[in-house]
Amino acid sequence: MHIETTKKLKQIYDRFSESTKPIHRAYLESIHALVKFAEMRDPCTKGHSFNVARYSVLLSENMGLAKSYIEIIKLAAILHDVGKIGIKENVLVKNGPLTKKEYAEVKKHPGFGVRIIKPLRFFNDVIPMMKHHHENYDGTGYPDGLKGEDIPLGARILAIADVYDALVSTRSYRKAFSEKVVLEMMKKEGGKKFDPELLKIFIDSISPKARERRGSGSNKNRQKQQSISR
Ligand SMILES: [Fe+2]
Repeated sequence: MHIETTKKLKQIYDRFSESTKPIHRAYLESIHALVKFAEMRDPCTKGHSFNVARYSVLLSENMGLAKSYIEIIKLAAILHDVGKIGIKENVLVKNGPLTKKEYAEVKKHPGFGVRIIKPLRFFNDVIPMMKHHHENYDGTGYPDGLKGEDIPLGARILAIADVYDALVSTRSYRKAFSEKVVLEMMKKEGGKKFDPELLKIFIDSISPKARERRGSGSNKNRQKQQSISR
C-alpha cells in the first residue's frame, strides 16, 4: 500500500496545523461556501460532500492512517465535486441517462475542481486526491486512466466513500438503493472499480457489528462524528 513517508506527512501536518490561523480559517469557510453552492445547483446531492467526508474518515481510521493524513483526506472529500460548478445545469440535473456528449461534459469536473483550488497553495496536497477520485483500480476510470496503486491512496479512499453515499441516496435519475443491495453491488467491483483491500476494510467498518461498537462508544466519538458532518 503506497503511503507517504513519515517525513512528508509531518511537512503536510505542519502546514495544515496553520489552519488555526484566521486567514486559513477564512480559506476553509470560503471553500465550504463553494461546496454549498455546488450542491445547491443539484439539490439531490445536498450533504453529499460531507457524507463522503464522514465515510472517508471512517475508512481511513479503520486503516490506521495517521491523523494528519486523515485531515487532508477529509478536506479532499469535502472538495471532491466542487468542479461541478463548471458543469452545465441541464446536464447536472438531467432526469435520465446521459448522452455520450453529456457524459464527456460531466467527466470534466475533476479538472475544473483542480482549476478552482490550484490558486490556493494551502490546498495543494488535496489536489491529487480530488483529481483522481473517478479513477478505477483496473485502469478504466478518468481523467488519466491510472491503475492500482498508481492512483493516490486518498483518491482510492474517496472513490469508495463517494460511490457508497451516491448509491444509498436518491438522485434526479433514480431512487436510493438499500444498503444491502449497495454492498452487494460494490463487492462485485473489488479489483475492478475499487481497491479490493480498502473495500474489504470499508465493508467491515460499516457492518452492523462495527456500528454497534461505535454506538456504544464514548461521547467523544459522537462529538467527532458531528464535527465531520456539520
Ligand atoms: Fe465526482
